[in-house]
Amino acid sequence: MKSKEYFSLKFEDGKFIFLEQTKLPLEENYIETEDYNRVAEAIERLEVRGAPAIGIAAAYGLALSLKNSPKDKVKENFFTAYQRLKQTRPTAVNLFTALDDVKKVFEALGSYENAYEKILNKAVEIHNDDITKCGKIGENGLAVFKKKSTVLTHCNTGKLATGGDGTAFNVIKTGFENNLVDFVYADETRPLLQGSRLTAFELERTGIPFAFQTDSMAAVLMQQNKIDLVVVGADRIALNGDTANKVGTYNLAVLCNFHNVPFYVAAPTTTIDRNTPTGNEIVIEHRGKHELNTFNGVLVAPESYETFSPAFDVTPSHLITGIITEEQINIFPYNFIR
Ligand code: MRU
Repeated sequence: MKSKEYFSLKFEDGKFIFLEQTKLPLEENYIETEDYNRVAEAIERLEVRGAPAIGIAAAYGLALSLKNSPKDKVKENFFTAYQRLKQTRPTAVNLFTALDDVKKVFEALGSYENAYEKILNKAVEIHNDDITKCGKIGENGLAVFKKKSTVLTHCNTGKLATGGDGTAFNVIKTGFENNLVDFVYADETRPLLQGSRLTAFELERTGIPFAFQTDSMAAVLMQQNKIDLVVVGADRIALNGDTANKVGTYNLAVLCNFHNVPFYVAAPTTTIDRNTPTGNEIVIEHRGKHELNTFNGVLVAPESYETFSPAFDVTPSHLITGIITEEQINIFPYNFIR
């Protein structure tokens, strides 16, 4: 019998422990490491994924780079780890914000005495802050339910993707706990199946009734009036509200617009990129062809075929009904402050 409890990541007894999400839901395997390079690999391989979770993992990675470091190597070790972690994934702004927040603390250290402990404290602070923000996003999100609703979501935004109970997922979960959500349709989320593998896992563990469907089936659901609203997460939100999220999100926003279904984004304010005016400036990660031309490790299309595989798309802000943060629900037109 599987235990109901699970977590995406934690730091305990000097080790970073994470759930290997690539194996879910068939295997629930936790990996422990004291090596920041292994943390970087976990982010690259999507063993740890989801914008807030990536930021938290990277912050813990920086702390690990100082564990057992000789005093004369502290600075070198910190900046080598900083550069390594920064290269892991380009789109989720939480990664860069967390790394830079920790770097500020490092640069303000008077001496390297207890540098590991001080940097670890900052990483824990970033983690705790996300837990609090997830809780508030869930509470603020209650206002989007005008009646008991059937919700559609895309990708994975729950405990697995954050330090707390999730963003869009926590809006759904809090709605369910308040008798405002009766059913969830989870997009499978091609090609890495964050919906059918991870969101379905979280919905099951949370006891929320659900079905999953391939991304292209969402249109039928809306045509048949089965969806009351869509809630998704975000990897980076520009100052004008344009939002980068898992590829397929933009399709949903267009569908919602056509079918007159409210389309909400839920994210902590740490996902708002204060240096990015519009979605045009957001760097989109492109993934390798093996994620499209293989299925379960088996080649399904010739290696010679080219592929096009952006990991994220950008939804223009005018298609977003509201952006739910830990502070409030923001309504179009968005004008986040620099
Ligand atoms: O490539 P992934 O799995 O890291 O992409 C994750 C998403 O797109 C999520 O929707 C987003 O990070 C929000 S997580 C709360």
